[in-house]
Amino acid sequence: MAQLQVDRLSIRYGQYLAVDDVSFDVREGEFVSLLGPSGCGKTTTLRCIAGLETASSGRIAIGGQRVADGSWEVPPNKRGVNMVFQSYAVWPHMTVFENVAYGLRSQRVPTAELTRRVRDTLEMVGLGAFEKRYGTELSGGQQQRLAVARAVVTSPRLLLFDEPLSNLDAGLRERMRVELTELQRRLGRTSVYVTHDQAEAMAMSDRVILMRNGRIVQQGTPRDLYETPNCRFAAEFVGNANLLPGVLDGPGRIRVGDLRLNAATPASGDADLLVCIRPENVQIAGEAGGENVFAAQVERVGYLGNSLSCEISAGGLRLRADLPAHSRMQQGASIHLRVDPANITLVPEVAEAAI
Ligand SMILES: Nc1ncnc2c1ncn2[C@@H]1O[C@H](COP(=O)(O)OP(=O)(O)O)[C@@H](O)[C@H]1O
Ligand SMILES: [Mg+2]
Repeated sequence: MAQLQVDRLSIRYGQYLAVDDVSFDVREGEFVSLLGPSGCGKTTTLRCIAGLETASSGRIAIGGQRVADGSWEVPPNKRGVNMVFQSYAVWPHMTVFENVAYGLRSQRVPTAELTRRVRDTLEMVGLGAFEKRYGTELSGGQQQRLAVARAVVTSPRLLLFDEPLSNLDAGLRERMRVELTELQRRLGRTSVYVTHDQAEAMAMSDRVILMRNGRIVQQGTPRDLYETPNCRFAAEFVGNANLLPGVLDGPGRIRVGDLRLNAATPASGDADLLVCIRPENVQIAGEAGGENVFAAQVERVGYLGNSLSCEISAGGLRLRADLPAHSRMQQGASIHLRVDPANITLVPEVAEAAI
């Protein structure tokens, strides 16, 4: 049985539908991200799971227990849920120990057990040596860990994170992403994690739920989303993509501009297609001829250190190709490129209108 079940959830503010018929499950121990651009309804969904927002319609169950059914709801403190916010709201006037102890004190946990649980949790997040410090005496990364410790110490059935890393600068954000992922693996807590950062969602999650305009666009593993996006928005939001209008030209054959290419994935129906080619899947071919090899001209080269971000023209099209830095590609060069048929994904153009 799923630890969290969200079933046809909608949330209105007056006339405005902030969350529109959203359904998803999270299994015990699973880490699932809600990903999408600002304003797409991620926080509103999360707050409704926590009981901080009232549903207009739909149902939510946590650990098999119904907590919301339309506007009927169980109060937040009876849901067994804890939330880590963007501003971690570490209490500056309390020590690290007291910050973590707070939730247990309000549950009237006996002193000996409280001390043991606070110390175990601080140890687990690597703050064992800091229990006497005050919130203000911690670095951004340490405050982040303290916020996690505070959320897990009461053993909630579900952890909710709302963009907890967005306030950190880029370097620290990446380190904390790794740290939080490791911590999560060790704790194995069922979690829903909200972020607008696709790299963060991809790197941390078992499953990603991509949202737009209050609706779910696609859900699946990070690999599912990246390799088989179901619409233009999904292809562009998760990673970089060349999206080129194409037409079917026989079984497994497509025409894109003046190029004729083989694609491994079969196209469904006769709708117009978007052909998705990731920049890193464009390779340099040694010579002309061979499957999916085409002539191209290098229009622009950007040196990124680990690769060259090139704009190329081929068959009357412009596309982006990330080529190896050691290839020393120059602007104006005439080359041959190749895309493996397995790396050509066909995205139905029609799905876009329905979202
Ligand atoms: N209390 C509110 N009253 C009116 N509109 C709101 C309220 N909270 C959120 N919204 C609107 O609902 C939409 C979704 O917001 P939110 O869930 O915060 O988006 P996200 O977290 O994905 O950035 C936004 O358009 C936002 O302006
Ligand atoms: Mg938000």
